[in-house]
Amino acid sequence: MGILFDSVSHRYRGLKKKDVFTALENINLNINEKNEFIALVGRTGAGKSTLLQHMNGLRLPTEGIVDVFGYKITPKKRKNPKLKDVRRKIGYVFQFPEYQLFEETVLKDIMFGPLNFGYKKEEAEKRALEIMDLLKISDLKDKSPFNLSGGQMRRVAIAGVLAYDPDIILLDEPTRGLDPKGAIETMELFEEIRQKTNKTLIMITHDMDIVYEYATRVIILKDGHITYDGNRLDLFKDDTYKDNYLVKPEVLKLIDYLNEKNNYNICYDDIYNLDDLIKKLEKM
Ligand SMILES: Nc1ncnc2c1ncn2[C@@H]1O[C@H](COP(=O)(O)OP(=O)(O)OP(=O)(O)O)[C@@H](O)[C@H]1O
Ligand SMILES: [Mg+2]
Repeated sequence: MGILFDSVSHRYRGLKKKDVFTALENINLNINEKNEFIALVGRTGAGKSTLLQHMNGLRLPTEGIVDVFGYKITPKKRKNPKLKDVRRKIGYVFQFPEYQLFEETVLKDIMFGPLNFGYKKEEAEKRALEIMDLLKISDLKDKSPFNLSGGQMRRVAIAGVLAYDPDIILLDEPTRGLDPKGAIETMELFEEIRQKTNKTLIMITHDMDIVYEYATRVIILKDGHITYDGNRLDLFKDDTYKDNYLVKPEVLKLIDYLNEKNNYNICYDDIYNLDDLIKKLEKM
């Protein structure tokens, strides 16, 4: 099951009828329900957010069909009466979390999702408090979501989605605005969720160090087309990343340097961050 894109295109319309912009063109894609940590990458304006928004019915295709757990999302609005069921299954953390928050207090905001999707009040509160503890934001409980810093807002938005326990989680630049330690903690949390639940996570990011450390699959979008769909290693072994306006992860740059200047012969395989590289060097 999971999510299946069948020849999906999306065109944005401008004010004038002839102003049409193609953001996605003939996308065919298969996302498994379980066990994927997908990084969706590509330069700004490539169509990443637009693609993600099709996965839970926030946007409808202009052409083609998006099949989400067997529910078919089609171009006609009135033919999609059960989008709420899709949104319950596919959680979405927005690129700009301030658009996602709206309740009086952080606690109420995080409870909104579970309540909206049918949890009883006590259960919703219990889940909200647990998730706040997990994300280390319990102290923000009674604050207004609008009086938070960007990084705090992002954590609250993430908590609000985790609270209703969706089957697949979509994250649009989840570490943007977080301080370095916060970014690492958040990524570790996603990795923990993935390992404990086997849930598929799909994350948009511009950070190649994160892509290389965590992603089990990388999808590149360029001008509304998928130009790469494969593993993280192959992407950086040749010039594919360059052709798609991406940069090499720092750890691979360092391996290149050591191999070139110090005549080392270190393979990229099995080294996904600096700690892995240090361990390798200690054994040499
Ligand atoms: N509401 C809209 N109306 C018209 N055009 C839009 C709209 N939203 C996005 N676009 C256009 O569609 C293209 C893809 O936008 P999208 O937001 O999906 O890109 P992105 O890859 O997420 O970029 P970024 O990395 O900057 O977030 C862009 O060229 C953008 O200008
Ligand atoms: Mg975007």
